[in-house]
Amino acid sequence: MRGIILAGGTGTRLRPVTNVVSKQLLPVYDKPMIHYPLSVLMTAGIRDILLISTPHHLDAYTTLLGDGTDLGIHLHYRAQDHPRGLAHALILGRDFIGDDQIALILGDNIFHTPHLADLLQHERRRLNGCTLFGYPVPDPHRYGIATLDARGHLTRIDEKPAHPTSNLAVTGLYLYDNEAVAMAHDLTPSPRGELEITDLNRAFTATGRARLVPLGPDATWFDTGTHDSLLHAAAFVRDHQHRHGHPLGDIQHTAHRMGYIDDTQLAELTRTTPTDRHLTAPHP
Ligand code: G1P
Repeated sequence: MRGIILAGGTGTRLRPVTNVVSKQLLPVYDKPMIHYPLSVLMTAGIRDILLISTPHHLDAYTTLLGDGTDLGIHLHYRAQDHPRGLAHALILGRDFIGDDQIALILGDNIFHTPHLADLLQHERRRLNGCTLFGYPVPDPHRYGIATLDARGHLTRIDEKPAHPTSNLAVTGLYLYDNEAVAMAHDLTPSPRGELEITDLNRAFTATGRARLVPLGPDATWFDTGTHDSLLHAAAFVRDHQHRHGHPLGDIQHTAHRMGYIDDTQLAELTRTTPTDRHLTAPHP
């Protein structure tokens, strides 16, 4: 399976903070936002990852993350010349994907659940078409919203509905079989000329090849696209780290936990770029 992280967009709702900085480079407590989704893909066992951003911001990501060698992964980069919708990533990444399956993650999504590695690896094995992950939200008009039937089967998805039929948001992590690339090609662009991810997910839903996996009551999920959600996410990371004493979204520790790097490599990495300084509550 190949991973794609989307780190484009204009970050309109976070202006003026995003006037000159890419949204997915903003800090979420003690790390750049992009570290969190990267850590999720690594936790899923994915080691070939393509990062897509704007031509203007791509250099910052290559400077921050390099080619991934120090993390035992392979990072690739591609620029999207102007916003073409989330599903366009599958077309832009076509050569990178080849005939593999795909995990697409949005660079502004923060996931935490105690058994994330087990969940993602399990869902990778049973993937048949498209797998989505659902999370209940208080403000469904902000998201893609899923409706399930009485047996828990996905029946419809509405993008940012004015009159939501449920409160189950479709989070920004999507697992696809390779046919998604051809299906993305066949999508009709929105009036703004964009290929919508919800239209792709609807196409899978229409043929009965989309599943929605609820993330469950122990999970936490944030789309950090607004000032408030960014602040909430940072507070959550801080509280979690202080309470449990281990880092969230830490790509170095994830690489070590997954066996991509050994003890010596981790020690060297944390010596040169320490990431574990914020695990205990500061003295007032
Ligand atoms: C996108 C998707 C939406 C999804 C959300 C998750 O919205 O279009 O379906 O629920 O990501 O973060 P955006 O945040 O780009 O407006």
